[in-house]
Amino acid sequence: MHSSKIVGVGHHVPETVITNEYLSTIIDTNDAWITERTGIKERRWMDPEKDTVANMAAKASRMALQRAGLTEKDVEFIVFATITSDYYFPGSGVLLQRELGLESIGALDVKNACSGFIYALSIADQFIKTGMYKTILVVGAEIQSTALDISTRGRNTAVIFGDGAGAVVLQPSTTKSAILSTHLHSDGRFAEELFVKDPGSSRPHKERQPEQFLDTSGFKVHMNGNQVFKHAVVRFMEVINEALAANHMQKEDIDLLVPHQANLRISQYIQEKLALRDDQVYNNIMRYGNTTAASIPIALSEAWAEGRIKENDVICLAAFGSGFTWASALIRW
Ligand code: UT7
Repeated sequence: MHSSKIVGVGHHVPETVITNEYLSTIIDTNDAWITERTGIKERRWMDPEKDTVANMAAKASRMALQRAGLTEKDVEFIVFATITSDYYFPGSGVLLQRELGLESIGALDVKNACSGFIYALSIADQFIKTGMYKTILVVGAEIQSTALDISTRGRNTAVIFGDGAGAVVLQPSTTKSAILSTHLHSDGRFAEELFVKDPGSSRPHKERQPEQFLDTSGFKVHMNGNQVFKHAVVRFMEVINEALAANHMQKEDIDLLVPHQANLRISQYIQEKLALRDDQVYNNIMRYGNTTAASIPIALSEAWAEGRIKENDVICLAAFGSGFTWASALIRW
């Protein structure tokens, strides 16, 4: 049985930069509040003329494949993490398969929000280990901006979320490089603390008719920020410690922590608890906001391009979000 390893990383973000200053002109907010509470300075929002979840994913995937010295034709399976698929159904996995011109390979959609990329990575890792596939594309891509209530009423989410895509290519490893472990968790008791309700099937039939949607607030992101924050800081630590314990490692063994980019204060809290130096934690939330399932692969791709990830490094990925779900992956690069 071969372990799997990441052989290529890539990302793509929309061109349109939305600054805190710009948001302050359309809703009651300001740069000081957003920077102090979240660390975010700007984020990217999609251009409806250019960007879809699937075509951003295709651009990220091509970058990952090219960096791996591979082409589209090498991909045998797709695992696609998104909660903002282009259509309500089918998921964006098949749209990516179409964009890449890959006839009839399998495409699986994962809907685990901010933890979605690590869930997707874990699934792909199992498929490589069993020998079922030899080259798998694992993608996280989101367009959150169109689901935001961009008004003063929705300001606790409008200033946070952004759009983008990231991808990695997984293959069997013949060296020490490997995904050492993944740990996945959920607690559905808190499902409504961060959710988009509509178009949910649990609505009575008469309420699902489009003409009944006089109140469209159910289509927007609802988040109980305080509650999510409190759980996040606890679960992040738990799942990172779980990964270290499973691999008989200490926090000192982590060369780079790549946390899901939810809030700079959360990343700083984890950094302090693990006593990591600034150069041992990668953050780019300042530039992209929270891109949900895309945040970790975008960060991985940028960290790699900046030379922050080297062969043999121990990389820790960790995420927490809607569900609640939380997860970690420990990787020897
Ligand atoms: O990726 C998925 C996981 N998501 C997360 O982990 C997010 C976790 N939560 C958070 O990051 C934070 O809770 C937020 C950044 C969302 C909010 O920060 P907070 O420090 O928890 O603020 P708050 O919600 O307690 O609001 C404090 C005040 C309120 O005013 P009052 O009631 O004290 O007068 C809000 O109305 O800040 C106000 N406020 C804003 N003011 C200016 C909320 N949003 C804004 C805003 N601009 N955008």
